[in-house]
Amino acid sequence: MNKNAPIGVLDSGVGGLSVLKCLHQLLPHEDFIYVGDTARTPYGTRPEQEIRGFVAEIIDWLAAQGVKEVVIACNTLTMLGVDSLKGDHKFPIVGMSKGEKLLLEASKKKKIGVFATPFTISTEAHKKAILAADPTAEVYPMPCPKYVPLIEGEQFDSPELPAAIAEYAAPLKEAGIDALILSCTHYPFIKKQIEAEFGPEVTVIDPAEATSYLAIDALKEIGALREDGAGKVTVCGTADIDRVRRLAERMLPVEDCQFKEINLADK
Ligand code: DGL
Repeated sequence: MNKNAPIGVLDSGVGGLSVLKCLHQLLPHEDFIYVGDTARTPYGTRPEQEIRGFVAEIIDWLAAQGVKEVVIACNTLTMLGVDSLKGDHKFPIVGMSKGEKLLLEASKKKKIGVFATPFTISTEAHKKAILAADPTAEVYPMPCPKYVPLIEGEQFDSPELPAAIAEYAAPLKEAGIDALILSCTHYPFIKKQIEAEFGPEVTVIDPAEATSYLAIDALKEIGALREDGAGKVTVCGTADIDRVRRLAERMLPVEDCQFKEINLADK
């Protein structure tokens, strides 16, 4: 495995930039190629077969760029089962952490909320992981279909955003949760607003850091962690690259990144 090869990071759109931010901070010597499928986002409201086809195209495109690892910076895609996305590729593929350990550490009352896309919630993966770690916990999953279109649409100042946050938070506040996981990588873009809605009694967890450590462990295992070099970040979108750049400003030092609009058919 070539240590100097880039790490591929992918998402349905700009959400995975919240994971790229963390990876880049923890691995400043690594090169990254990020792909957001901004032409076809959101994925979380689509059927499984369609999403499987999309992610296979992105992983094949990243493989053609010579990546040494792929980080699936998308919970919805992680739910498909990372091993089933591997195909014939030799590099490791890492998915999003479900964060059950962090949640159980943060929650005194063991009343835990999960915000995610309808697809992710329908799998019950987070609920099962939390209950496997602590069967006495109470888990309150909440599908949040309005968030991704609002974030991708840069609707941060729209009254629809606080309305959607209040709508999805209400049943979880009523249930008395004291820890909440943001199990869609888009949601860290609105983490402050979500925290404000729940107030200081609720710890809001972003699993990006735990995921980054999974990616680091997988690289260590194959002896491919890079210890020197300047670390180049290339952010690619399948559409609207100017919008991707504006949204990336909320997560990354964009002056140090390259932005490219790509066609997944051109490898
Ligand atoms: N950011 C993604 C996730 O973590 C998916 C959002 C979507 O396309 O619906 O689930």
